[in-house]
Amino acid sequence: MWETLEAVESEAVGCTKCRLAAGRTQVVWMDGNPESKLMFIGEAPGFHEDKQGRPFVGAAGKLLDQMLESIGLDRTQCTIVNILKCRPPGNRDPMPDEIESCKPYLVAQIRFINPKVIVTLGNFATRFMLEKQVSISKVRGQRFEVYGATVIPTFHPAAVLHGGGMSGPAMQGLKADFEQVRQILDEPVVQDKETELVEQQSLF
Ligand code: URA
Repeated sequence: MWETLEAVESEAVGCTKCRLAAGRTQVVWMDGNPESKLMFIGEAPGFHEDKQGRPFVGAAGKLLDQMLESIGLDRTQCTIVNILKCRPPGNRDPMPDEIESCKPYLVAQIRFINPKVIVTLGNFATRFMLEKQVSISKVRGQRFEVYGATVIPTFHPAAVLHGGGMSGPAMQGLKADFEQVRQILDEPVVQDKETELVEQQSLF
C-alpha cells in the first residue's frame, strides 16, 4: 500500500494497466491544493488536458473556474481529479475495465486528501462514488455521505455547455449546486478529521 500521495503519483504517471496508456501524451494526475477540503471529480482528460497534463483546462474547465469564482474560490482552494487519468481516444466514454484499472489511484487520492466535500461532475463520477447506476439528472443537488465526505452530484460542465449553455436549464442546476457547496463548506466541522481518515482506510 502507498504511504504518501506523492508515492501514488509516481506510480500513476508510468501506469500501463490499461489500453489508454498506449494513446496518451501524459497521465493527468490532478490540479489544486491537496490540503483543501473540497474535491471535484470529473470523467477523463480530453484533448487539451492530455496535452497540458492538467485536468479541466478546456471549455468545460473555464466554466468550472467561473463556477468556483461565483462561490469565492479558485483552484488553490480545491482539488480537481478525474475517474480516468488518461484520455480515451476521441473522448469516448470510459469503459468499465478502464475505470476498474484506474480505481486504486482515485481511491488513494480521496484517502490521502480526505476532503470534506466531494462534488461529482456528471454520471461517471457520481456512479463511482455512490456505487449505483443512478442518473445525474435524478440525484443532482442531493447530499450523500460517503466514506466520511459529503458528496454532491452535479451536472458535468461539458454537458451544461452542450445542453443550452449559460442560459439553459442545466446551468440553473449547476449554479444551485455550487451555492449548496458554499453552504456546506461554511458549516462548522462536527467530526474530527483524524477519526474520519482512520475510518476511510478500513473501508477502502
Ligand atoms: N472533462 C473531464 O471530465 N475532465 C477533464 O479533465 C476535462 C474535461
